[in-house]
Amino acid sequence: NKRVGFVGWRGMVGSVLMERMQAEDDFVLISEPVFFSTSQAGELGPDVGRGRAPLRDAMALDALAEMDVILSCQGGDYTKSIHPRLRTAGWQGYWIDAASALRMEPEATIVLDPVNRPLIDAALAAGKRDFIGGNCTVSLMLMAIGGLFKAEVVEWVSSMTYQAASGAGAKHMRELLAQMGVLHAAAAPLLADPSSAILEIDRRVTEALRGPALPTEHFGAPLAGSLIPWIDVALPNGQSREEWKGQAETNKILGISEHLIPVDGVCARVGAMRCHSQGLTIKLKRDLEIDEIVSLIQAANDWVQVVPNDRAETLRALSPAAVTGSLTVAVGRLRKMNLGSQYLCAFTVGDQLLWGAAEPLRRMLRILLE
Ligand code: HSE
Repeated sequence: NKRVGFVGWRGMVGSVLMERMQAEDDFVLISEPVFFSTSQAGELGPDVGRGRAPLRDAMALDALAEMDVILSCQGGDYTKSIHPRLRTAGWQGYWIDAASALRMEPEATIVLDPVNRPLIDAALAAGKRDFIGGNCTVSLMLMAIGGLFKAEVVEWVSSMTYQAASGAGAKHMRELLAQMGVLHAAAAPLLADPSSAILEIDRRVTEALRGPALPTEHFGAPLAGSLIPWIDVALPNGQSREEWKGQAETNKILGISEHLIPVDGVCARVGAMRCHSQGLTIKLKRDLEIDEIVSLIQAANDWVQVVPNDRAETLRALSPAAVTGSLTVAVGRLRKMNLGSQYLCAFTVGDQLLWGAAEPLRRMLRILLE
C-alpha cells in the first residue's frame, strides 16, 4: 500500500500517462494517489476512482515527503529544484521522473523494462531510489532493435533521426500546424485551379516560408515544408545534446560502463506530430542472415513489429501516420547495405509520447506497486 504523488500530470506527457494508467487500471493498485500542483494547490484534483481531493502544493517539501513514491512529469527545472532538497532532508521514497535532469547521475537508473528489467531489479535490490525515463529517441531505438543488443551482435549504430514536434512540446505541435496553415493559405487560390503553374505555387509557398506571417516563435525556424537539423543545445565537440544522449543513454540503459557501444548521428526535427522516426546503420559484429536478424528483433519484446521490406507493407505500416497513438514500435527496411555484409540498414518509427516518454514511467510505477 503506497502513497503515490503525481506532479506535472496535466501537461502533455503527464496527460498521456494518466490516460495509460486509467486504461491499465493502475490506480486500483495505489492506496492513496495524491495530485500535486505548482500553481493551483487547493483546487479540486481529478477523480481517478476515489472521488476528488484538493490538489497539494508541489513546492511544499513536507507534503511531498509524505509520499512513498513521487512521479514527476513537471520538467527538469522542477526536478533540479525539489529532488536534492527532498533527499537532503532525508526523504527515502522512490522518485520516478520523465525529465533528463537526473538521468546520468550515478545513483539514477534509466528505466526501459522490456530492455533492462534485470538492471532495474538489481538497482531496487541495491536500494536505489531514483528511476528516470530515457530520452525518447534512445528508448524508441532500443525498443526497436533491443534484440540485437541482447544478442550482443552490435558493434556500433549510426542513428539519423526524424523527430516529431511533440518532442519539443505542446506549443511546438501547435506552431507546426499553424505553419502548415499559413503555407496552405498562400497556395490555396492557385491549388483550387488544376491548370495553375506548379512553379508559381512553389514561389508563393517559398515566399510564405520565408515571410513574416509564418509563426516561428517556438521552433525558431520554419518546420512545415522544411526541417531543422538541430535539437537541443550545442556541445563543444560539435554534437547537439540530443545526439550526445544517443551513446550515453544507450550504454547506461544496457548497463555497459566499459567498452561503450558507439552510437552517433544527426538528430533532425521534421513535421511529424508525435512519432519519432530513425534511419539506422548498424555495424554487426558478425555476418548474420537477415532471417536470423528478423527473429532476434521480433522476439525481443511484445511491442516491436517487424515490417517486411517491401513497398506496400512499408507504406502501410512504417510511418508516423500508421504508428501514432499506439504502443507498437515498427521497424522495417531491414537489409544488408552495399557497405558490406556486416552493415545492416533499418528504419524505425515509434510514438514519442508513449514508449518515448510515459510508458516506461507507468511500468516502473507498476513494478514498485506489484
Ligand atoms: N528531446 C526530445 C526531442 C524529446 O526534442 O524530441 C524528449 O526526449
